[in-house]
Amino acid sequence: MLLPLKPLVAALALTGTTSTVTAAPLFDSVTTFLSHLTNPPNAAQHLDLQTPGADPTGLNTLSTLGSSAKSVLQKNQAYLLLINATPFTLRRTGGHSYQMPVWDASFPEVVQPGESIRIKIEAKTHKDDAAEMRYVIEELKNQGQGQGGEIEFQYRGHSGPLLQVEWKSLASLNNPIGSVRALTWHQGNNIPFVLSAAPSSLNTSSHNLNPNQPGFSFDPSKHLIAFPGSLPTSSWMKTSYSRLHCLTLRQLSLPGTHNSGMSLLTGGTPLVKALPASVQCHSSSMTVGSQLASGARWFDIRPVIAGGKWATGHYTFFNGIKLPSGLEQIPGLGDLAKEIGALGGGDKDRALDGWQGGNGQLLSSIISEINTFTAQNPGELIVINLSHGLNTDTFSGSGNSNAQAHLSQQEWDNLMTELLKLTNRATHLTLPNIDLSYLPLSALLPPLDPSLPLNSTTPLRASTVLIVVDDITSSSSSSSTNTLTRVNTSPFAPQGIFFRRQLSIFDSYANTNSLPAMMSDQLSKMQQHSQKKQNDDDDMDMFLLSWTLTQPVETMVTGSIVQYAEEANRALGEKLWAGGQMGKEGRYPNVVSVDAFGADGEVTGLVAGINWFLAEECPAL
Ligand SMILES: *[C@@H]1O[C@H](CO)[C@@H](O)[C@H](O)[C@H]1NC(C)=O
Ligand SMILES: *[C@@H]1O[C@H](CO)[C@@H](O)[C@H](O)[C@H]1NC(C)=O
Ligand SMILES: *[C@@H]1O[C@H](CO)[C@@H](O)[C@H](O)[C@H]1NC(C)=O
Repeated sequence: MLLPLKPLVAALALTGTTSTVTAAPLFDSVTTFLSHLTNPPNAAQHLDLQTPGADPTGLNTLSTLGSSAKSVLQKNQAYLLLINATPFTLRRTGGHSYQMPVWDASFPEVVQPGESIRIKIEAKTHKDDAAEMRYVIEELKNQGQGQGGEIEFQYRGHSGPLLQVEWKSLASLNNPIGSVRALTWHQGNNIPFVLSAAPSSLNTSSHNLNPNQPGFSFDPSKHLIAFPGSLPTSSWMKTSYSRLHCLTLRQLSLPGTHNSGMSLLTGGTPLVKALPASVQCHSSSMTVGSQLASGARWFDIRPVIAGGKWATGHYTFFNGIKLPSGLEQIPGLGDLAKEIGALGGGDKDRALDGWQGGNGQLLSSIISEINTFTAQNPGELIVINLSHGLNTDTFSGSGNSNAQAHLSQQEWDNLMTELLKLTNRATHLTLPNIDLSYLPLSALLPPLDPSLPLNSTTPLRASTVLIVVDDITSSSSSSSTNTLTRVNTSPFAPQGIFFRRQLSIFDSYANTNSLPAMMSDQLSKMQQHSQKKQNDDDDMDMFLLSWTLTQPVETMVTGSIVQYAEEANRALGEKLWAGGQMGKEGRYPNVVSVDAFGADGEVTGLVAGINWFLAEECPAL
């Protein structure tokens, strides 16, 4: 039996976190080891469609069939994930379909406020497959100016599977009446469409009917928000400022990225260089700058010194991980075992020893991308959380056994000095030890015009970068003892660099590669957190939803972090809004942290919808 080296190397690569993996046989037997190689874990268990495998469309296996046989077997299947994050009721008004095995019966009569519905769609693969379904927003129909309050979902087979929304007789922000928006097709999976509006819209919408009623009037073309289309991802906070200006970081919800710098591999240990996908958390085009442009506002930056330069990194310390005994006896595996041993830094008995990992985007590149973004996009709040600092230059040789490679205080001082190159630091927040989590957006973002006083109510705000250092450092004051203390940021306090307690957040990842287990872990932590918040008089930390899968060593075989994460991100909207639980007891995340952050803006659209519908309302500007 011959197994390719690549998956085997991957099998021995990294877990998703910087942690210590202690000595234990990697697998208890050769049999379990081999079964891990041949039975990839199923990441897509939340779907009731068949799990999309390596060949989700079935096109490859079908390619040998004649075209008529193909069209019988092939299907375009997906779910429209319709999220009604408004106080309005959506009522089905009618539709039509041609050559659609599943369409009409999937759409419910009514979608209630706060409800999310997963609507199964199935088409054959003919060019003339087509279908429509219309919904009216009851409270907005017949509201003058020819508005009938109606939108239409449309399926079109002629240019591949296409699902789109036509704004028939209803407008939303940046989606005028008559416009059509394509949704991104995800074969066999969720395609989100989110409508959102503030809770009070229900009251103020009636003002449109009665011109004598004073006060704020709900205007769908300004105050109804749809994903896709309403909020440009590079300026979604600025576009939402009138809705968000009074909200504190404890009330806001921000899209975040996990291991933000790991979109590419700029160096690393030989084992990881053999399979970059084992440490890469975002696709290679999604650098921090692209993540910002696609809406991410909270960044997990893990600084490392690598070859004397500042980079981001993703490392794990292995304390002598052994291959299963008897592996050498299997024909074809003996040599591979040795090869892994050599790559992994150990010998054939201790296959993985010391630090394994890789470096991502360089800090200088991240700084210049952020500066370019803030210069072009005023009015956005950016949070950078620095943790897990390591000096990889101390790894080599016998130093590789040094599990404590924390950056020293001196190295942190050098790093914080580097960070002063970030423009738009929050140097206007000068109160010592201020708790950032209680500041409203209007205080976090200074006026764009620097000649205006900080308390000016102008809606034109500058962008701000909050830098939070959350790490420990080893100070070897005496040569024999290493004491671990928190990084001292105080000399940098006037420079917009803050310490952990100034932005304290509950952040606890599930540490599993099973999607169902991760989802139930995170959703129950969010529920517990919101219940605690109720009892503790609002004096609780913020909540970070860690929507990330962690690959245990033995399952790295089956593919990349990014592939798993895309699956998890598809499930995000479905699970967050399931069962009308979102917003109950103030339950919603302050940060939604994901891997494989997408340029499609879906995570951003889901999170922006939370803000518009669930967050406390602000006085009119
Ligand atoms: C709507 O108006 C009613 C009556 O004035 C008021 O009691 C209620 O709180 C308002 N609802 C919202 C969401 O503003
Ligand atoms: C801003 O602060 C100044 C001085 O503290 C005060 O006089 C002024 O009324 C404030 N303006 C606003 C809009 O709060
Ligand atoms: C910073 O990120 C680390 C790693 O994800 C996390 O453990 C920590 O709670 C975060 N701290 C803050 C203040 O966000």
